[in-house]
Amino acid sequence: MGVIHPDITKAQTLPSTYYRDENIHLKLMRKFSGSWNFIGLEAALVEGEAIPVLLGDIPMLLTKQGGIINCISNVCTHRAMILCDGIKKVNSITCPYHGRTFSLCGKIKHMPEFSEVENFPAPSDDLPKAKVAIWNGLIFASLNLKESFENYILDVEQRMNFIDFSNLTKDDKLNREHNLFANWMLYVDNYLEGFHIPYVHKGLNSVIDYSNYKTEVYRNAVLQVGYASKGDDCFTLPPEHPDFGSNIAAYYWWIFPNLMLNFYPWGLSINVVMPNGVNETKVIYYGMVGDQNKSGRGAGGDLDTVEHEDQWIVEACNRGMKSVLYQRGRYSPSMEKGVHHFHRLLTE
Ligand code: FES
Ligand SMILES: [Fe+2]
Repeated sequence: MGVIHPDITKAQTLPSTYYRDENIHLKLMRKFSGSWNFIGLEAALVEGEAIPVLLGDIPMLLTKQGGIINCISNVCTHRAMILCDGIKKVNSITCPYHGRTFSLCGKIKHMPEFSEVENFPAPSDDLPKAKVAIWNGLIFASLNLKESFENYILDVEQRMNFIDFSNLTKDDKLNREHNLFANWMLYVDNYLEGFHIPYVHKGLNSVIDYSNYKTEVYRNAVLQVGYASKGDDCFTLPPEHPDFGSNIAAYYWWIFPNLMLNFYPWGLSINVVMPNGVNETKVIYYGMVGDQNKSGRGAGGDLDTVEHEDQWIVEACNRGMKSVLYQRGRYSPSMEKGVHHFHRLLTE
């Protein structure tokens, strides 16, 4: 038996040590960076640019040269200096410590004072690379050579293939960056259940039909479907779609480990949950708008209010997790299937 019982009616939630222990955090980060991770939008990446990104806790650089997108280690192969701290427009990457130079695809090009060094340069002097995949303009990377991207994204792809991504444009007005004093998993836990909506989000509760809120569990994802109340914006679905005939106000996808794709009739809101150690989390929002007329309405309307309400909860739970009087809880089988699934994926 694993840490989380597969039967939700018997299961206990993730032990509090998972949210506060440094060693467990490091183990989870290995699992995190081994999965496919969303690292940026193709539309925002400029030729000749190097952008620092993280795969879990591993510093990487997202680069584009000659139209080719690469995700390479941001750690110098000489003595581990971080190569780039901020976004740079460059032809090559030069280490600020002793001048080792790499191409934007990670190949070592030059190193001062190394002419007498035997077998130099060797392939181990190049910057290690992650695998990169692009899906509808979203860039993903993984350090795990086994899992195919097609397999990773399959469930989302099949359900959302009616969306015309080419019609969505990045709207910088919707960019947000939030820094939280809380473990990243608390943010994901909270996202994965609509149980708290009537208690925490009174405004949102009035525009979605809470009694008709559905959670579906997939291999490495959880889908929550929000149904529209009478008269609210909803998706126009093709007749062959499994949800044809239903009034759907939102598709909320969480994809392991830290990506949330929230589809609304006006477009797509992307949230990325970036762990920064055990106790801090950065949440980044991007917005892609298809229909400006519907923007700001319905379930995807007042996102800032909903976000603040959630952050207050998540930070307070982080304090609660430190209490010696709390170890773990139980799940509601009707409302917390998604949280149960996430905990199972983390501990399997
Ligand atoms: S650490 Fe990069 S050149 Fe020395
Ligand atoms: Fe919430």
